[in-house]
Amino acid sequence: MEISFATESLEDWNGSLLVIGLVEENLEKQLVPLKKRFGELLLRSIEKKKFTGKSKEIASYQLIDDSLEKLVLIGLGKPENLVLNELRNASSIGAKESLGTNGKMGIYFPWTLFNKDSASKAVAEAALLSFFKDVRFLSSPEVKSIPSGIDLIGLPNSNKDFLKSIIPVCNGVGLARELVGAPANMLTPAELANTAALLAREKNCQLKILEKKDCLKEGMGAYLAVCQGSDLDPKFIHLTYKPDGQILRKLVLIGKGLTFDSGGYNLKVGASQIEMMKFDMGGSAAVLGTAKAIIELKPKEVEVHFIIAACENMVNGSAVHPGDIIEASNGKTIEINNTDAEGRLTLADALVYASKLQPDAIVDLATLTGACVVALGDEIAGLWTGNDSLAKGLISAANDAGEGLWRMPLYQPYKDGLKSLLADLKNTGPRQGGSITAALFLKEFVDESIPWAHIDIAGPVWSDKGRGINPAGATGYGVRTLINWICNQE
Ligand code: BES
Ligand code: MN
Ligand code: ZN
Repeated sequence: MEISFATESLEDWNGSLLVIGLVEENLEKQLVPLKKRFGELLLRSIEKKKFTGKSKEIASYQLIDDSLEKLVLIGLGKPENLVLNELRNASSIGAKESLGTNGKMGIYFPWTLFNKDSASKAVAEAALLSFFKDVRFLSSPEVKSIPSGIDLIGLPNSNKDFLKSIIPVCNGVGLARELVGAPANMLTPAELANTAALLAREKNCQLKILEKKDCLKEGMGAYLAVCQGSDLDPKFIHLTYKPDGQILRKLVLIGKGLTFDSGGYNLKVGASQIEMMKFDMGGSAAVLGTAKAIIELKPKEVEVHFIIAACENMVNGSAVHPGDIIEASNGKTIEINNTDAEGRLTLADALVYASKLQPDAIVDLATLTGACVVALGDEIAGLWTGNDSLAKGLISAANDAGEGLWRMPLYQPYKDGLKSLLADLKNTGPRQGGSITAALFLKEFVDESIPWAHIDIAGPVWSDKGRGINPAGATGYGVRTLINWICNQE
């Protein structure tokens, strides 16, 4: 897919489909170039359709002149409320309208109301991400053609180099979506390790897989407790990106990698959506998606470690009993009062391992708690960190990506909820504030001198109906935020 800045003006542009964004103000003035190209009749028809430019309003026309198959007008709402996500959503509507066409799709938006560079990138990215359709598991998928290219119209003097990152970024998001969408019988811990191995074939990469026996040697009792009831061996994945030249920063990303979470003996019953728990590796998908993009983008001066303690949470005669006491690799003992709070056990040993690398920052992503979904809904992830500048960096990266991220309190007094009678701590606190105690639990396994952030993505990892740039299903949440965070900080 070719993405370019059109050199022609709106009046002269040629292609299959033209998508035009219009704000809800001074419509007549905005329609001047259209009038020049398509004549008075189109304007009258627009008026007749009562198109005013309200957000998400659509007016579409087929076979409008010799060259154009389709013209789509999309409302962007009031200019004073116009944010980048409005453009992304409009671009996404345009992309859906374009299905079935073969030629180029032209997009003309009110660029001048934005920083042109970020707006053009966001719009092209949104269109590409909206074309994603997972047909891997269909015997005879219906294939609808997508446009051959995207032309951004009205930005004639822009530098095309600026668009270079779009495809790597979208490929990263695509990988994350495919990993999350793949069911647990296909995406096993070993398969997750294979995915990392495929990425590691590229230049600047190293891969280390710790097998079960290696994890035993490391004393990873928390992680190993989670998978002891599964027939599948755990795979502790450590992928490293090392740029050429000097290294000024060293970052670690950790992703929760439960390829299935049955809950264990605290089995997920009733409305707990056990059949959705293939997505419990969403954190690791975001991490590998980011790795894919970073390996292609090759940012300088930053070394990035991608870590996943992959396994399944299952039940059999060897599975952990509720109430078992185990020991993590930092020596802390844990009473497992709930086997369904397994993600934090795998992350505990991953955080200890990451701390030993002495990086400049550690960020973990995890589908950790249902409580976070109750608190923030399914469009916003929760962010916990004691480090204000790390919070600022991540929130600004998420804002730029148009991904929802909200800082939550790492409220120390709630740590009392994790007190155990017999061990150093329990893995589960009271139901109320469950996403906060989960974050406080993780904190126990991080070297205090290292800036650390935890992102709970249990809500946005999946979208039942699809929304904006996300088709129904796996969203690939986190990839674009993490790429921004890695590439944009000084
Ligand atoms: N993977 C789940 C969290 C989850 C639940 C994600 C629903 C998305 C939707 C996690 O392992 C879990 O089971 N958490 C428990 C924790 C509880 C036992 C303290 C939860 O949220 O119910
Ligand atoms: Mn669980
Ligand atoms: Zn889980």
